[in-house]
Amino acid sequence: MSYSASSWLQSLILLLFSLIIIIIIIILLIIRLRKYWCCCNCGICKAYIESSWRVRFPNLCDWYTHLLRNSPTRTIHIHALNNTITANPENVEHMLKTRFHNYPKGKPFSAILGDFLGRGIFNSDGDSWRFQRRIASLELGRVSIRAYSSDVANQEIRRYLLPVMESAAAAGRGGNGALDLQDVFRRFSFFSICRFSFGLDPDIFDDHLSLPLSQFAAAFDSASELSAERAMSASPIIWKVKRLLNVGSERKLRRAIGTVHVLAGEFISQRRRSADFKSSSDQKKDLMSRFMASVADETYLRDIIVSFLLAGRDTVASALTSFFMLVARHPRVEATILLEAEKVIGPHNENRPASYEQLRELHYLHAAVHESMRLYPPIQFNSKFCSNDDVLPDGTFVKKGTRVTYHPYAMGRMEEIWGPDCLDFKPERWLNKDGVFFHDQNPFKYPVFQAGIRVCLGREVALVEIKTVAISLLRSFHLELVDENIPRFSPGLTATFRHGLQVFVRARIQP
Ligand code: HEM
Repeated sequence: MSYSASSWLQSLILLLFSLIIIIIIIILLIIRLRKYWCCCNCGICKAYIESSWRVRFPNLCDWYTHLLRNSPTRTIHIHALNNTITANPENVEHMLKTRFHNYPKGKPFSAILGDFLGRGIFNSDGDSWRFQRRIASLELGRVSIRAYSSDVANQEIRRYLLPVMESAAAAGRGGNGALDLQDVFRRFSFFSICRFSFGLDPDIFDDHLSLPLSQFAAAFDSASELSAERAMSASPIIWKVKRLLNVGSERKLRRAIGTVHVLAGEFISQRRRSADFKSSSDQKKDLMSRFMASVADETYLRDIIVSFLLAGRDTVASALTSFFMLVARHPRVEATILLEAEKVIGPHNENRPASYEQLRELHYLHAAVHESMRLYPPIQFNSKFCSNDDVLPDGTFVKKGTRVTYHPYAMGRMEEIWGPDCLDFKPERWLNKDGVFFHDQNPFKYPVFQAGIRVCLGREVALVEIKTVAISLLRSFHLELVDENIPRFSPGLTATFRHGLQVFVRARIQP
């Protein structure tokens, strides 16, 4: 290379480098000045911007709960985020049902999750959402799907969960005996949803994929965490510039999404080749084959798959983690669950899995699962965007373009919904005087599975899976928490304990 060409190249590099520095300085200035631009000096916005809420509250959701409990309308507005947050059931009904069309997911969220979820059901409105919901309801609405969910859970319990728990029990309390139950449940629910929604056997499939399923699961975790981090940027400009320059978290996100997409593509091609898919019998149709029969566009199909993995994976793992934390803290509840199981299923030393019919008879267990999700909903809050100016039933004016969030975590802690003992873990509140589960609650008071027109399609399937795991593990093992402190959550799309859930495991029946 001649001298003049190399000096030209050096100048170009210098110019590019200076440009990057200038962009970074501008971004930092935007962040610093933003607090003045939003023209809000109110206590709430100041506490948010300066993170001073951390002094009194372990988690953002606990601070929001405090603010909502103290608001006469149970609605607050964070000006700095242009976010109206509500724990008022009438407002929730208004946005999820009465004025559903005025509260779509909206463009800001589609942008944040677009790279990861594309046009999948969680990230779409309008016709694309309607189409996916219709197809998914055909599969998830079948009566037999619940018994199938119980079979799948039992297969994965035998294949994966019991061996992991047994080896933790064998390790005992000493040395590395503690087990991170949250991590175990995340793996378990990933395997289960692959088997349930897509008919994939984790053992067999590993041999046909370019990466092991566990690596796929790890990429999936990163993609979901890093996408959620975007939502917490002071301004979308920040992550958009980082994405343009392919630096920092955006670089990691791109790589993780790449892995997820490659493997989702491999799922599709494996499925196209498999005998089940070629069979025209309706019996053999699972969620994936139903979509494959109606969608020709491979990218769209891939997006659909990724959304369904997300739907059924982290939510179930989160529900199981908090359930086991609460049961470990409440020995009376644990004893009552075991007693009920003994009556319905028989003595636990026979080590038989509960049948689907028996599962339905476990009213106290059903109540305990609902109660744990009341206090620890897997999706702590959920936001929509207001399309046109509106007034909520409590009189709050909502301007077009405002983010409107309902907050199941705070709603589970509202005295007017649950009574003065709302902070207590009390499964009995869900049982009538004969010990039978009843749910006469207005669904907008307990929107753990959302409610209204976009209510979760996997609610029954999830409840069956959670109860199958709960009863199987509780009858075989006693768990002791390593740490009794209040949980701290990591940022993410679903509630995740920052330090996992460390437990010591003891087998109830010694071999
Ligand atoms: C404890 C477990 C679960 C909880 C707490 C839960 C909760 C939710 C919530 C809050 C939504 C609304 C999300 C939004 O619109 O932003 C939702 C939607 C959905 N869930 Fe679940 N879910 C669970 C398990 C499952 C499972 C196992 C499946 C599938 C097998 C599933 C399938 C879906 C689907 C397809 C939607 C989208 C519905 C729509 O947009 O029309 N969920 N779920």
